[in-house]
Amino acid sequence: MPLQIIKSPSKMQALAESLRRKGKIIGLVPTMGAIHEGHLRLVDIAVRKSDFVIASIFVNPTQFGPREDFSKYPRAFKSDCQKLEKAGVNVIFHPSVGDIYPENYSTFVDVGEMTTILEGTRRPGHFRGVATVCAKLFNITKPHIAVFGQKDGQQLAVLKRMVRDLNFDLKIIKGPIVRTSTGVAVSSRHSYLSAEGLEKAKVIYGSLKLAEKLIRNGIRNSRNIEAHMRNLIKSVPGAKIDYISFNRWDDLQPVRKLSGRVMISLVVIIKNVRLLDNIIINAK
Ligand code: PAJ
Repeated sequence: MPLQIIKSPSKMQALAESLRRKGKIIGLVPTMGAIHEGHLRLVDIAVRKSDFVIASIFVNPTQFGPREDFSKYPRAFKSDCQKLEKAGVNVIFHPSVGDIYPENYSTFVDVGEMTTILEGTRRPGHFRGVATVCAKLFNITKPHIAVFGQKDGQQLAVLKRMVRDLNFDLKIIKGPIVRTSTGVAVSSRHSYLSAEGLEKAKVIYGSLKLAEKLIRNGIRNSRNIEAHMRNLIKSVPGAKIDYISFNRWDDLQPVRKLSGRVMISLVVIIKNVRLLDNIIINAK
């Protein structure tokens, strides 16, 4: 079946409803476009776990702060369509801003405390925008499963909480972080970085691997691990640490002494580009 591009929410809903009536399992992969290997890995998972795959491409204005990069966010619709079609997507849902936020739009989803920490402290309102648009995408595309990347670990945890709290009838699936051969987590914002910046960015995953090693060697004090990570990152000129954090997976409670599943996340700023990465480890 050739790739279909649907812009209208009501047409998308009608198609999703007819697929459901035929007993098809619908898989959704929400994106903001500028499709890369990370997105395509999520599509692979959706292809394996469902009969019909919808990818959405929508640069969502409500999740960008006033000084953020909404207008200059990379847009590459045509090549995105080719990549997604090749990966096995059946429908690309590509609404306009006015389709999603018509005049007098006034309803937003607030997932609460877990949205105010980590990225929430740096990007107030970001997760309100993410939760709202994902709630709308779920209602429009009616998926049985929706695949999100661990790359945005807090986003994944927030959306899992929203789905549970609001009884959305779907399962959120976590896709692994896709990295370059040097370990840098692939990101649409890489286009803002020079080759030199990308080289420096290697230290981010390097610091996470170091943390993993220290934990394997029995260290459980997060402050101690954080100090080692900071020293390593500081050795790279121009790499500025925004934050390093240790949080329980998946309720994101901060943890001092590591035990059970813990997300170690950090943001490093290189040449004004914020690079976000994490690992989830089991500190038994
Ligand atoms: P976007 O940044 O386009 O990411 C879409 C999905 O791809 C997210 O689930 C994200 O975690 C995942 N992803 C990004 N880089 C990845 C990588 N290197 N490996 C694996 N997965 C990766 O996240 C958003 O868009 C938006 O907030 C959205 C959920 C679409 C709501 O607007």
